Amino acid sequence: MNDELLTSYQLAPSILSADFSRLGEQVAMVMEAGVRVIHVDVMDGHFVPNITIGPVVARAISGQVHEAGGVLDVHLMIENPERYIDAFAAAGADWINVHVEACVHLNMTLSLIHAAGCRAGVTLNPATPLSHMQEVLGDIDYALMMTVNPGFSGQDFIPSVIPKIERARHLLPDSTGLQIDGGIGPTTIEAALDTGANLFVAGSAVFGAPDPAAAAKELMASMAERG
Ligand code: DX5
Ligand code: ZN
Repeated sequence: MNDELLTSYQLAPSILSADFSRLGEQVAMVMEAGVRVIHVDVMDGHFVPNITIGPVVARAISGQVHEAGGVLDVHLMIENPERYIDAFAAAGADWINVHVEACVHLNMTLSLIHAAGCRAGVTLNPATPLSHMQEVLGDIDYALMMTVNPGFSGQDFIPSVIPKIERARHLLPDSTGLQIDGGIGPTTIEAALDTGANLFVAGSAVFGAPDPAAAAKELMASMAERG
């Protein structure tokens, strides 16, 4: 696994906004454009209102993602995420993140992710204080700050989360990635970059664009300007 991807600037297109009738083609398109992190949004209709995809879909694309030198980044917006970690790891997930709001035994869940051979992330909803991840800072490979309330793609970026993201960057060691997710596109990417985050999820801005490869390249060009 290429751990350099955790701490470098990376665009992580979310397949939630892709055309599922030609998913492999859509993933290939953005990876040919230079994307190395593919974001998979898993929703259960309980933790969030929407129901999306499971390990079957992760398995369908993990081979091509790995062959292209990329990683599969699985965002679990589900209750009892500890029950599904082995299934996603077996399906080819490389990074798995869980919401603190959904984990009763967070330390144990992170241990399970590592035991399954994956990198582990902790995710906070917009209104969840940073202090809720304080005691697991040494147990994570990346942190994800939601800039929308999870459940749907195509929502507006919530700017009031920005100070929390900046504080997270100062709190986390340099070796820990900082990801943000929700409402990131051409009009918000500069503000997103200013927060100090290095991993940027984008769903509708990439796969909702007429030319996903061009849209991904444009966002990656903004990142490249920051080094
Ligand atoms: C929201 C998901 C996001 C979402 C991003 O619940 O976690 O990853 O798909 O979509 P956009 O970029 O359209 O906000
Ligand atoms: Zn997501």
